[in-house]
Formats: sequence, C-alpha cells, structure tokens
Amino acid sequence: MERYILPDIPNLHKIDAYEQHGGYSALKKALGMNPAEVTDEVKKSNLRGRGGACFPTGLKWTFMPKDNAKPKYLCVNGDESEPGTFKDRQIFEFNPHQLIEGTLIGCYAMGITSAYIYIRGEYGKWIKMLQKAVDDAYAKGYIGQNILGSNFSTNIYLHKGAGAYICGEESSLMESLEGNRGYPRVKPPFPAQRGVWNCPTTINNVETMTNVPLIINNGWEWYSKIGVAKHPGPILVGISGHVNKPGVYEVATGELLTDLIYNYAGGVPGNKKIKAVIPGGSSTMILRGEQIEGVRMDADSLKAAGSSVGTAGMIVMDEDTDLIRVISRISKFYYHESCGQCTPCREGTGWLWKILKRFEAGEGRIQDIDLLVDIANNIEGNTICALGDAAAWPVQSMVKRFRDEFEKRAKKDAVAAA
Ligand SMILES: Cc1cc2nc3c(=O)[nH]c(=O)nc-3n(C[C@H](O)[C@H](O)[C@H](O)COP(=O)(O)O)c2cc1C
Repeated sequence: MERYILPDIPNLHKIDAYEQHGGYSALKKALGMNPAEVTDEVKKSNLRGRGGACFPTGLKWTFMPKDNAKPKYLCVNGDESEPGTFKDRQIFEFNPHQLIEGTLIGCYAMGITSAYIYIRGEYGKWIKMLQKAVDDAYAKGYIGQNILGSNFSTNIYLHKGAGAYICGEESSLMESLEGNRGYPRVKPPFPAQRGVWNCPTTINNVETMTNVPLIINNGWEWYSKIGVAKHPGPILVGISGHVNKPGVYEVATGELLTDLIYNYAGGVPGNKKIKAVIPGGSSTMILRGEQIEGVRMDADSLKAAGSSVGTAGMIVMDEDTDLIRVISRISKFYYHESCGQCTPCREGTGWLWKILKRFEAGEGRIQDIDLLVDIANNIEGNTICALGDAAAWPVQSMVKRFRDEFEKRAKKDAVAAA
C-alpha cells in the first residue's frame, strides 16, 4: 500500500519539502468550504480515533456546541505512554506538518481558536522537532492571525507532559494542561460540554489528526475505501517483542496479524512458534498464538477474536516466553501509574501485582488464580477513568487464555496448605 502518514519522502519534516509535496493544500481547500462541510467530510470518511477506543472522529467533532459563547479548545493527545505503543513519535519526527495541518483543519471545522498538542515529556528530541515545525508554520502564515488571508485565526501551543501515563487519559490531560495534578474527571460532563478551563473541548490523538488532511484532499469516498469500510484508512502498527524487524509499519486497516508479523516484521527469531500476542498496547486482551490465525488489524475483527485494536501496538511473544513474568511486569506498570483517586484501582492494582509476584516466585496458590480474576473484575468498570479497565483486562485475559501457565507455576502443596 502507498504510505500516507509516513510516506517515503526525504526531509518531509521540513516545511519546504512538505509544501513541495502538496503540503497545506488541504488547509487551503478546507478554508474554502464551510466548517460544517469539513466536519461532515470527516464524519462520512468513517475515520476512527487512533488513541485507543476507535471512536468515530467526525461524530466527536459534532458534539462541540455551536451556541456556546465560550472559547473552544482542541487538545491533540501525544502523551503516548502505553507500553508497546511508539507510533506517534514517528509522526513528530517524519511528518509533523501533516499533524499541524490536520490540527488546523480540526480547529477550523469546530470554530476553535487555540489548540494544544500535549506531548510526552520524555520525548525531548521530538518536542524540539515539533516546536520547530510549529514555528515554521507560524512564519509562513499557516498558524496565527487571519490564516492565509482568511477570517480564520488560531494558535497552536506545545505542552510537555509530566511523565505520567494517566495524563494521556483525556480528562487527566486537561487537568495537567491547567497546571493541576493529573486526576481524571468524572463524566458527564463530557469535554465537549465542559473541558479545559471549563470550556468546550475536543481531544484527539496525534495519528487521528494526521489522517485529516488526507480526507480533505482526496474526499471521504477515497479515504473510506482504504482498508476496512467500518474502520478505514492507513494505520500505524508498532510491532515489538520477538520479531526480527521490530518497528512501526504503515498499513491499511484490516491487515492480517500474521502478515504483519511475518511479512512486515520479518517473523520470529529462530523460527520459534508464537505463544502469545498482545495486539494493541499492554491494556488490550492477550491472544494465544494459535488464536491469531485469520484475525485482522481492525476494530470488528479483533473484537470478534476477544481483544481490541487499542493503539495497534503489537507485542509478539515466542514459545519460550515466561508469561507469568510478562503479566507481573504489566501489572506493576498499572500499579505504579494508578493515580490513586479511585479505591478499586489504587488498591486493586497493587493486590494484583503482589499476587503475580507470588506466582513469579513459585509461591502462588491455586486459588490465587481465581482471586486474580475476582480482583480484576472488581476494578473493571468501577473507576472514574479507564486506567482501571486497562489494568484489569490483561489479567483477566491472561488467566482466561493461559490458566495452564498459572497452574504450572502454582506451589504444589499450596492447595493443602491454604
Ligand atoms: C490511562 C489512559 C491513558 C491514555 N493515554 C493515551 C495517550 O497517550 N494517547 C492518546 O491519544 N490517547 C490516550 N488515551 C485515550 C484518551 O483518553 C482519548 O480517548 C483519546 O486521546 C481520544 O483520541 P481519539 O478519539 O483520536 O482516539 C488514554 C486513555 C487512558 C484511560
């Protein structure tokens, strides 16, 4: 497939090269349309968010109120902290202007005069690169007052994250942007009603916004024919773990997971068998190696397989992988990153990790397997934000699909002793 998000064009991160290859023509085109038409185009394209939940982007944009006199904001989410996810940074490095152009088009469509790109604080090199791109776009009149001689004016600000996974959760991101501790907010009210500084706000992922110029330039029909109709477009798949060529691959949605692993990522070192795959970042449900046959990288296919696309950050594990170690490490991450606001998550993530450490040390009891599920079930759905779910799903799916691994690791005399 031709690449549209990360095309093979030298120096595309520089504004001149971007312009030479048609850059900012979508913005010009959008400014000649009325804002509702732009939103409609995105809606009809069926673009779905690339930040984890696959939410329809155009529909989200329609939630922004039209009769509210308050300023409106766009937050572009580049916090990228989910283990296994490393695709937005490719955009910052190789195609930052397409992200900026998409951000501007989004602002125009929703009547927004300030956008924030919230970027992971650890991304030092990419923060500098993106800031340079923003500065260059200001200098050329793409950002700022009366953009390209129109009545449309908007500013774009970069905001560095403060090193917490929770700040990628949209309401927490807004708190962080306001200078507060990154505690998620209760919803409703949703961000479009009351977002950053109590004003209507839309939050979209970096990759989501980078898709927007493609839709405006080529039309929704063209876009909706790339990949799977219900979840179309180019998608950046980050492949890590036991593969010969880990990296970020741009494909059309609907690519077979096996093709991604064997054709793109060069297969498994030593031709070992695949024991397990996490398809979309550490919070998505783990699949057994034999389960991935015929499964595709799109929302419906992965849902039917019992998992989800998430951020399309695939982690491949070969037959020799110690999955108890894997789930213990994942659980430590969620325990560490829980903001502590909701009791089930604050306490439950720690309990999960403690029990999993017991299994790692060969001290787990057979009844601990169900205890893990019980704790995870009591976290899921009982917290303000989805970090709780993100912590529960890997544990639930690991027990469901690899109970045998836990049974093998349980202490042999622990049943009698319990
Ligand atoms: C704990 C947690 C962390 C998240 N981290 C990110 C992130 O780093 N980047 C991101 O785009 N979305 C992240 N999300 C999802 C956002 O809340 C939000 O759904 C997303 O930015 C919306 O963009 P989209 O509709 O374009 O996908 C996270 C969600 C949770 C619960």
